[in-house]
Amino acid sequence: MFEVAAVRRPVYIVCGGRGLSVRGAGMQGNGSDRETVFTMEATPIKYGPGAAEEVGWELKRLRVGRVMLVTDPGVVRAGIAGRVRELIEAEGVEVEVWDKARVEPTADSFQEAADFAVEGDFDGFVAVGGGSSIDTTKVCDLIATHGGEILDYVNSPIGGGKKPPGPLKPLLAVPTTAGTGAEATTVAILDIPEQRVKTGISHQYLRPNRGVVDPLLTMSLPSEVTSSCGLDVVCHAAESYLSKPYDTRQKPGSPDDRPPYQGANPIADMWSAKALEYGGKYLRRAVENGEDVEARGAMMLGASLAGVGFGSAGVHIPHACAYPIAGLKHEYEPPGYPQDHPFVPHGWSVIVTAPAAFRFTYESQPERHRYVAELLAGEKIEQADENTLPEILIQLMKDAGAPSGVRELGYGEDDIDDLVDGAMKQQRLLVLAPREVTEDDLADILRESMENW
Ligand SMILES: [Fe+2]
Repeated sequence: MFEVAAVRRPVYIVCGGRGLSVRGAGMQGNGSDRETVFTMEATPIKYGPGAAEEVGWELKRLRVGRVMLVTDPGVVRAGIAGRVRELIEAEGVEVEVWDKARVEPTADSFQEAADFAVEGDFDGFVAVGGGSSIDTTKVCDLIATHGGEILDYVNSPIGGGKKPPGPLKPLLAVPTTAGTGAEATTVAILDIPEQRVKTGISHQYLRPNRGVVDPLLTMSLPSEVTSSCGLDVVCHAAESYLSKPYDTRQKPGSPDDRPPYQGANPIADMWSAKALEYGGKYLRRAVENGEDVEARGAMMLGASLAGVGFGSAGVHIPHACAYPIAGLKHEYEPPGYPQDHPFVPHGWSVIVTAPAAFRFTYESQPERHRYVAELLAGEKIEQADENTLPEILIQLMKDAGAPSGVRELGYGEDDIDDLVDGAMKQQRLLVLAPREVTEDDLADILRESMENW
């Protein structure tokens, strides 16, 4: 008889040119105050043309007998909400439709939906729509399951920062746009018009039980919506990949204090990289020809992949700037969108500052910036500098018909101070930038982003 000695050797994961030392099992931390742990949680996704046909079956599997279906008037007009309702009822599940989800949800619009949810005594929720419908549904589920005031759960300092006390009721998310990745994330974003800022509720209990991602549902989207949503996907993936590495953060006092956005890590990198590849290869095609099922499918899948990536790593400067760009003035009337109220489509509010933001962050991680450029370009780039990734992004924006910059969205140099103030409020995002970003840096980025071409 002989014994097998357990040999503990360090395991090295090398990713994007950065070597990470991962300690052998059973060893305790690294002896410093740096973070040593990251978590990776992916929302289960059911993907493919025809996947939406299985929503009723999924609800039965989750033992839901009475469901609230949250959607918006555009999705109802497109016939999608009615079709999903029929498919759910065909499985013997009772459905009530709430079709007033707003494009830019506010605490009031969330509250209206949540009141319906509380009164309806549902045992499950289905979101059919874009990110706004999905986020509204997450909040309905939260309030219907645990009660309380919406603002109590909103991130501090704007809200009370209260954590949901336990898991929520089953929620299926059926996206009809390829952008936010809301089906894959644990956040619900809302506009606070009085404070001219956007913020959110973020907690792992807000994660949908499943995303049901069906590219056939996006076929009727106007090209402008495809453009904005697709550029949001590209930014989610690029910002995540270029976020501050998780192991440069300070170790949290307890696991409960570990932020939902943890910074770049090897697993999030994989999801983000694939989404970048799809964005570079398929977004132009999806914008050009809405009937291109392959391109639509890749962008939808890309949105979910990027959602998982940024749900783990996080986004930073372009998204922090996007909040005041969308929240400060409500004057822009976006082509291709419902004309019921002026607003800046989310993806366009993000992409306009991305070229300048990545020019600014380049020096922190040149190799990783080059890799993002290569993924978007679909080819090796031998010589790269701080302008390489911005130029590739600007070409993609032009080809996808995006606005040329912050000025086209209704802002001028006089607004820069207010925009900087709004962006500085997004510290939970800015801490994820790979280099420290000051008010002056943000002002420079916004100034450079007035016109990208
Ligand atoms: Fe986004």
